[in-house]
Amino acid sequence: MAITITMGIQKGGCGKSTTTGILAHLLSKDFKVLAVDMDSQGNLSELLTQQPSNEFVNKSVLEAMQQEDARSFVVSVSENLDVLPANNFLATFARWIYTGHTYHGDHLPYKGNISFILDKLLDQVRDDYDFILIDTAPSLSEQTTNALCASEYVVVMFECSNWCYSAIPNFMDTVTAANKVSHRNVEVLGILRTMNDVRRSDAKAFNELIEEDYPDDVFETIITRKAPTGRLSLYGFEDNKELGPALTQYQDFYKELIQRVNDR
Ligand SMILES: Nc1ncnc2c1ncn2[C@@H]1O[C@H](COP(=O)(O)OP(=O)(O)O)[C@@H](O)[C@H]1O
Ligand SMILES: [Mg+2]
Repeated sequence: MAITITMGIQKGGCGKSTTTGILAHLLSKDFKVLAVDMDSQGNLSELLTQQPSNEFVNKSVLEAMQQEDARSFVVSVSENLDVLPANNFLATFARWIYTGHTYHGDHLPYKGNISFILDKLLDQVRDDYDFILIDTAPSLSEQTTNALCASEYVVVMFECSNWCYSAIPNFMDTVTAANKVSHRNVEVLGILRTMNDVRRSDAKAFNELIEEDYPDDVFETIITRKAPTGRLSLYGFEDNKELGPALTQYQDFYKELIQRVNDR
């Protein structure tokens, strides 16, 4: 039975999709992994498949949820790594569940619990994987609550800036709310400091502040800003000469994450 982990924070540009993609890549060296893209930007899908997200119109996680059929929409990336991709139409998710309107036509509003649509979908494939990683949208929307309610754990992404710092309490409240309603009892696995500019004094200050506020949650590993990581969306994981420098810190994060999962 897969362990499902959401990667989240409702602020954009915090390294969610990059970290989810790299973690999925690293996990797939040792485990069977499904990466689920719950952001209509489709960045995780593009990073892992190296195809534009428009390739997945009609073939995405949205249709999988609407047709209650996961396997037909899973895309194989490599032997141990699959992705349930997304594209811009995932932005119609909320409209579909509340009104029944889809870009294919009009249906009835969603009848079940609107927070468990993804959870129910993933139940079809949990036995096929060791890990399921879910990338989320930069908002506390239905996409994010569905991801949280489908997960045992969440990694909170903290890009060391004031606006990301101020996003954390509301994100934690949303995790607590999901924990109360979901039978998976989603809990925070840790807070990951990402995209750190170590030379900046404000980043250093926020690194320390987050340690004071959440001493039990912060991962020791700090992910710094590196050009090869930024270029990963361009070059991908295959035949990428600078992949090594892009992965080093993420390997440390991966080890810490596995340790924490094992300790729970
Ligand atoms: N460690 C890093 N070093 C340099 N650039 C990064 C790093 N992590 C992410 N990026 C880049 O920063 C931007 C935002 O990252 P992204 O993963 O898309 O964040 P989010 O999914 O939270 O919006 C992207 O252009 C990405 O390539
Ligand atoms: Mg993203």
